[in-house]
Amino acid sequence: MRIDLINGEMNMSLGGSLKRGLLLVALMPLAFGASPTLGADRTGQQVVAETCGNCHATGEKGAPKLGDKNAWAKRASQGLSELTQHALKGIREMPPHGGAANLSDHEIQLAITYMVNQSGGKWIEPTNKAVPAVARTGEQIVKLRCFECHQAGLNGAPKIGDRDAWTARVKRGLDLVVGSAIHGHGAMPARGGLPDLTDAEIRNAVIYMFTQSTAPQKK
Ligand code: HEC
Ligand code: HEC
Repeated sequence: MRIDLINGEMNMSLGGSLKRGLLLVALMPLAFGASPTLGADRTGQQVVAETCGNCHATGEKGAPKLGDKNAWAKRASQGLSELTQHALKGIREMPPHGGAANLSDHEIQLAITYMVNQSGGKWIEPTNKAVPAVARTGEQIVKLRCFECHQAGLNGAPKIGDRDAWTARVKRGLDLVVGSAIHGHGAMPARGGLPDLTDAEIRNAVIYMFTQSTAPQKK
């Protein structure tokens, strides 16, 4: 069977007859097997089921176990980029790439996010970094995420616009306050629960909330 012919068929499969559709279903595994780049990213759940679960489902060799909130909370506070580095390079008994060299970096990130979220985390799935990210502004980050709690002052979050609350915190030193937003602090989740935020983006977001709260026209 010629792969290029199959690819040609696949490209026109949408309008194809039922008969051709059935033929394509039968040939598809062959095409993907021969040319893995045709396949889309697997989901985090799939990668965990196929690979990571071999150890993380049972906690084999000291792997943080799927569903173990304590074990994962500690690891998750390192942030997605740090955890991804460890999963790519391997760490102690954890083999590089979880032993599956064909996984893309993005698939590894989806798998980590899935395991964190199955274990009490609330991470948002990272976008594919093959598309280079431009640093987002403080305003964008705040609207994307921090608003969720800081707009209304949920669970004691310093409210945007509350000059006294923000001044009191930032008085302790901007680095300290940015640091506690990075690592989490009481009911404030590490990186606001958005693990792919860089330190610089978090700093921008803190400065944005602070200046919004202390700008002269606001109370
Ligand atoms: C052969 C067993 C095994 C497989 C397969 C495996 N892991 Fe692990 N993993 C471990 C062990 C053991 C640890 C704990 C390492 C340590 O901290 O000592 C670990 C730790 C981790 C950590 C935490 C790293 C840190 O810095 O705290 C992440 C993230 C992780 N694994 C992701 C994955 C992903 C994603 C996959 C699948 C692509 C995977 N693992 C597959 C054994 C495995
Ligand atoms: C799930 C709710 C929630 C989200 C989302 C959230 N925060 Fe918070 N944040 C809190 C709470 C609650 C506190 C108060 C914690 C305390 O002082 O005990 C807080 C406190 C803070 C503080 C003050 C830390 C200090 O040392 O006084 C900063 C800075 C901060 N958040 C920044 C952010 C940034 C930046 C984002 C968005 C990336 C964000 N937060 C998203 C709930 C949230």
